[in-house]
Amino acid sequence: MKTRLQVVGDPVGHSLSPDIHQLFAAQLGDHVLYGAEAVPSGQFDQRADAFRRAGGKGMNVTVPHKAAAFAYVDLPSVEAQAAGAVNTIHFCDDGICRGYNTDGQGLVRDLVARWGVALDQARVIILGAGGAARGVVLPLFEAGVGSILIANRTLDKADTLCAELEMHLQAGAELRGAALTADLTNEAVDLVINATSAGLAGKQLILPVSSKQLRSTFCYDMSYGNNAVFHKQISPQAKQSVDGLGMLIEQAAFSYELWLGHRPDTNPVYDAILAKLAVKDDL
Ligand code: ATR
Repeated sequence: MKTRLQVVGDPVGHSLSPDIHQLFAAQLGDHVLYGAEAVPSGQFDQRADAFRRAGGKGMNVTVPHKAAAFAYVDLPSVEAQAAGAVNTIHFCDDGICRGYNTDGQGLVRDLVARWGVALDQARVIILGAGGAARGVVLPLFEAGVGSILIANRTLDKADTLCAELEMHLQAGAELRGAALTADLTNEAVDLVINATSAGLAGKQLILPVSSKQLRSTFCYDMSYGNNAVFHKQISPQAKQSVDGLGMLIEQAAFSYELWLGHRPDTNPVYDAILAKLAVKDDL
């Protein structure tokens, strides 16, 4: 019998998750049926119930349903609690519906395993204070970073996010907020992560750091493909800059492992999806 999985979001037609998971399944010889369902806001619970009744085993959840999915599950993981968001639901055989957030783990694995970034005691600046930023702070601290500065267009949101995350962090974890327009040119920084949605609107960012700082800084754009405007903006100045395709693949691999019990090799899948995106860009 095939394991039934799906991604839900609105919109969902552009999602690469069905391709990624079918490639994982083919690689590991698993019988998987992975669909994509467009679910309007407000209908998450009823559609998730219906999928579960139809024998669904797991769901990936994307915009705008991650908070609804967090409220829906019986048992959210620690990462999901810190993020206030669930991107992976597992309808387990014991009858419990478990919720996870694999975005942060996906980012950490991509940084460390694919790009060789040293996170131990790293000084990190995250641009943006929305859901994407919230989801990665705890996993970055768990991976050993020394400090995180959240720089956001709206200063209040950065400060509120820091205050809300504090209860999830170990004593001594250095987390601060700042305005995106603040002068951070005297900050020591090893890693800059773009977690804003500016790229979705094709917008470049006004940066709080200098070209001099960027020359010794690894830059990571959580957006990928054509939406990775920050990556394109920063590449000529940064020590190294990458987009977030690897994070997408790695978060998917963590989800897959939760459902199927074993881990795919992500490298060939990364190459295949990169090639698919390149063909699309040419069209
Ligand atoms: P997501 O779930 O993708 O994080 P979100 O919760 O809507 O989406 O958050 C979007 C983030 O991108 C916010 O931090 C937003 O800044 P504000 O809090 O000031 O709104 C940031 N953002 C979006 N467009 C931006 C732009 N053009 N310049 C700077 N920051 C931007």
